[in-house]
Amino acid sequence: MSDFDPDATIISVLTDRAAIADPYPRYRALREHAPIHRMAIAKMWIVSCFDDARAVLRDPRCGNPSPEMFEQGRAGIDGSMRRARSRESLSILQLNPPDHGRIRGLVARAFTPRRVEKLRPEVEAIADQLLDAMGGSGDFVSGLAFPLPANVISALVGVPEEDREFLRPLIGDLTVGIEPSASDDEIAQADAAGATMREYLADLVAARRSDPGDDLLSVLIHANEDGDQLTENEILINTLLIYAAGFETTTHLIGNMFRAFVANPAQLDRVRADRSLIPGAVEEVLRYDPPVQLDGRYLHESMEIGGHVIAQGDSIITLIGAVNRDPADFENPASFDVGRTETQTLSFGSGIHYCLGAALARLEGQVVLGKLLDRYETWEIVGEPTWRPRITLRGVEHMEVSLS
Ligand code: HEM
Repeated sequence: MSDFDPDATIISVLTDRAAIADPYPRYRALREHAPIHRMAIAKMWIVSCFDDARAVLRDPRCGNPSPEMFEQGRAGIDGSMRRARSRESLSILQLNPPDHGRIRGLVARAFTPRRVEKLRPEVEAIADQLLDAMGGSGDFVSGLAFPLPANVISALVGVPEEDREFLRPLIGDLTVGIEPSASDDEIAQADAAGATMREYLADLVAARRSDPGDDLLSVLIHANEDGDQLTENEILINTLLIYAAGFETTTHLIGNMFRAFVANPAQLDRVRADRSLIPGAVEEVLRYDPPVQLDGRYLHESMEIGGHVIAQGDSIITLIGAVNRDPADFENPASFDVGRTETQTLSFGSGIHYCLGAALARLEGQVVLGKLLDRYETWEIVGEPTWRPRITLRGVEHMEVSLS
C-alpha cells in the first residue's frame, strides 16, 4: 500500500470520534506499514508492535514529563499533564522515580491480594442488586457497567453508601482530562470535579483519622514504611487517582466483554459449558478490546528503538489496542478466543506503572461474567450502542440490551 499515510491514520485514530467503534483496521495498517513512526507535525512517536511497546514501557529512560519538558511545552499526550506542573499536584501515575516508588510502595499496601479477594462478596452483592434492578433489559452501561465499579471503588475507599450518588457524576467528569484531544474546557471540568471530590475526601480522611476502619483511606493514613508515611496531600491525590483510574476502565471492560460475547456466541457457549474458562475469558476481553487503548511516555535520554533513534524530550505513544493484536505474539490475533494460551498483553501497562488495580478489575470482570451466565441464556444488544467519544479510555456509553 504505497499511498498509506501513517500521520493521517494516527490523527484519525486520535481524533476521529465517528470512527471510534472500530479502530482495529487502522491499527493493523499502521503496524504493517509503520510499526514505529515519527509524526511529521510533533516530536511524537507511535509504536504499534508489541515487543517494542513493552520495551518502551519498561525502560527507565522513558518516563513521565520532567519539569523541564513542561517548560519546553512538550507535555501534550495526556491532557491532565498540561497543567499538573508542581510536584505536589502529581499522582503516582504522573510521577517518576524516586518519588514514584516511595509513594507507590505505600499505596500498594491497600491492594494486597487478600484485601482485593475480601471484596468478592461485596462485588457479588452489588452485581446482584444491579442485575435485579435491571430486570433483564435496559441500558447496560447505566444499569450495570458504570455503577458496579463506581460502587466497588466507593466501598474500597470507604465512602458511605449515602454519599455515593453525589460522587457518581463527579467521577464521570474526572477522566475526561487524560485524553490527548481534551479541550481546555474539558480539562477545567475535570479539575472542578477533582477539587470537589478532594474537599469531600479531606473530610472523610479527618473522620478516619479519629475513627479508623478497614477501608483504603484508613490503610493509606496508617501505611508506614521505615517510619515514612503518606502526607495528607499524597493521600488525597492518590485516592482521586484510584477513582479516576479504577472505574471508567472497568466500566469499559464490562461493556466490551458483553459486546465481544454477543458478537461471538460460540465463545459464550464455551464458557457456559466450562466455567473454569471464566478467568481466561476476561483476559481475552482485555487483549481483544482493551479499555485503555494507549499509554504515553517521554524520553529522558535519547535511545534507539527498533532501529530508530529517538531524541531526548520526544514523546512516545504505545498503542495498546494495536500491540495486543500483533501477529508476532498472538495467533489469529483478530479472533476472540476464550481458550487462548498467549495471555501476556499490555492492557494493564508494563514496568513500574503496571496497574495497581489489575486484580480488582479482573475480579469485577469475572464476577459479572459469572452472574450473567447464572442468570441469562440469551444475551442480545438492541439497536446500535453509542460510543463515548474517547480513545484513551474507549468504550460504549449507552447500550440497550435484552437478557432472557
Ligand atoms: C480493566 C480495568 C483497568 C485497566 C484496563 C487499567 C489499565 C491501566 C494501565 C494501562 C495503567 C498503566 C498506565 C501507565 O503505564 O502510565 C494503569 C495504572 C494504574 N491503575 Fe489501572 N486499569 C484498570 C483498573 C484499575 C482499577 C480498578 C484501579 C484501582 C482501583 C486501578 C488503579 C491504577 C493505578 C493506581 C495506576 C497507576 C500505577 C502507577 O502509576 O504506578 N486501575 N491502569
